[in-house]
Amino acid sequence: MVNFSDWMLDIQQRMELTLGSYLEAPASDLAGLYEAMRYAVLGGGKRVRCLLAFAAGESSAASIDVLEVVAASIEMIHAYSLVHDDMPEMDNDVLRRGKPTCHVRYGQAMALLAGDALQARAFELLANLNLAVPERKLRMIKILSKAAGPAGMVGGQAIDFVNVGISLSFQQLERMHQLKTGALIHAAVMIGGLAGDLGQDREEILDAYGRQVGLLFQVVDDVLDAVASTELLGKTAGKDAEDHKPTYVTILGLDTARRFAVDLHKSAVLSVSSLGREGHNLVELADFILQRQF
Ligand code: IPE
Ligand code: IPE
Ligand code: MG
Ligand code: MG
Ligand code: MG
Repeated sequence: MVNFSDWMLDIQQRMELTLGSYLEAPASDLAGLYEAMRYAVLGGGKRVRCLLAFAAGESSAASIDVLEVVAASIEMIHAYSLVHDDMPEMDNDVLRRGKPTCHVRYGQAMALLAGDALQARAFELLANLNLAVPERKLRMIKILSKAAGPAGMVGGQAIDFVNVGISLSFQQLERMHQLKTGALIHAAVMIGGLAGDLGQDREEILDAYGRQVGLLFQVVDDVLDAVASTELLGKTAGKDAEDHKPTYVTILGLDTARRFAVDLHKSAVLSVSSLGREGHNLVELADFILQRQF
């Protein structure tokens, strides 16, 4: 078996090439727009959602060619969400992945359009996918569109910004995080799994794991915002407290947030335990998400 860091590096490098190939400007008058899209997607990012899609796809014997497209689509939605999240109307951030944010570099109008364009491009890729079982493709599109939209990421972002300065209950906080970050991570796991022959039992296992690592990812993001440095994070640290954002740390405190992360990690690992070797990289990824330093 390939060791986890080699596996991870291989997928990260593969995805850099794949994403680049899907973001070539088709005409010179679109060069500016494509430059902003490429800037938002390429040359940075941990590619966690791509890695999750690949690991889930391994458990359903999906082909690498299909997984590349599926992973590219989820990463484009994620990159678009970051571009809009950073804009002055939302989190007003100037640093992302160690570089000036897209709107700082290309202006607000172009950043807005780059985000819009990435979202549409993601669905175009999925729709064009050549799959032996077309119903599976339709399911992937349904899952990703729901996770990206008002009942998923965008809904969570809306709850996030209307609750600035407000102390949410544990249930409200969990719901916001499930939607704004958990939904896309869960979708990455599910559409990666559906890229192969999943079956009901494994689908239920991935469903539970996806929800747990999705929430875990944002709890850890909240912790890192409070404890890590701007240099290491590649985005401005301490921003949640400064902006009076409702997060696990600002509402429950650092220790409780950390304990909750450990519990979620434990549940996620338990969820995939019955997959045995086929779930190996899913376990490694749960470890990575808990232990990440940026
Ligand atoms: C940051 O996501 C935004 C959240 C949803 C918490 P990542 O930490 O995955 O960002 P990149 O893609 O690695 O930069
Ligand atoms: C962002 O959450 C979730 C998204 C949908 C992009 P954050 O606002 O906490 O993400 P960072 O910390 O800016 O990466
Ligand atoms: Mg935000
Ligand atoms: Mg933000
Ligand atoms: Mg954050």
